Amino acid sequence: MPKLCIALDTDYDRAVELIKALKNKPIIFKVGYKLFISYHRRITDLIKREGFELFLDLKLNDIPNTIKDGVMSAAELGADYLTVHITSGKEALEEAVKVAKGIKLLGVTLLTSLEEDHVKGWGVCISKEDYILNLASLALSCGIEGLVCSGKELPLLKSKFNFFAVVPGVRLYGEPQDDQKRVVGIEEAIKNGADMIVMGRSILKAEDPIRKVEEILALL
Ligand code: C5P
Repeated sequence: MPKLCIALDTDYDRAVELIKALKNKPIIFKVGYKLFISYHRRITDLIKREGFELFLDLKLNDIPNTIKDGVMSAAELGADYLTVHITSGKEALEEAVKVAKGIKLLGVTLLTSLEEDHVKGWGVCISKEDYILNLASLALSCGIEGLVCSGKELPLLKSKFNFFAVVPGVRLYGEPQDDQKRVVGIEEAIKNGADMIVMGRSILKAEDPIRKVEEILALL
């Protein structure tokens, strides 16, 4: 069954409350721009100290040398998972893999907030499925272990490749999609073979976030 990852896209005090309240639960905490830029080590150290796995969602996208430096710094912070945009290119991905040590690198395919029209708008003249397959193939051939993808493309990707599937854009029945476009329900994400489900606002906006986490864990 997939692991649950909570996207800590919230303020520091609330994040601390959640981390403390969920001690010993089988959860991964994901730190993105909001907390990382302002709190850096304070938040990453806390997650590790409390015994959780740390997912650094920095979506690195740069030249090979800069990517290499970023991955090495993430390793120093004790990151267990780190996102890299596959569009950084082959050389950058290879550099990332060389210095990843214990980090599971996750290649970002097409953001779940984007649709076919966005891909066409970049002048890419293939379907979004082929675009995603091309990116996946590139990442995996460079030694990247995991892919971040929508639950919608998961069956296609799983039919072609062997990889660790990280699925954001997941909602419980009836919840708002917010800015996400390629959204799936949690049951579909599980059925389609997600290895990690990433959920943020479903939990953060819930009246009782801890109860919501327990509800989600019961489904996994
Ligand atoms: O609130 P919600 O559940 O939509 O949050 C999804 C989380 O997953 C956010 O932190 C977002 O940055 C992240 N993410 C994503 N799509 C990707 C990669 C990461 O939504 N392709």
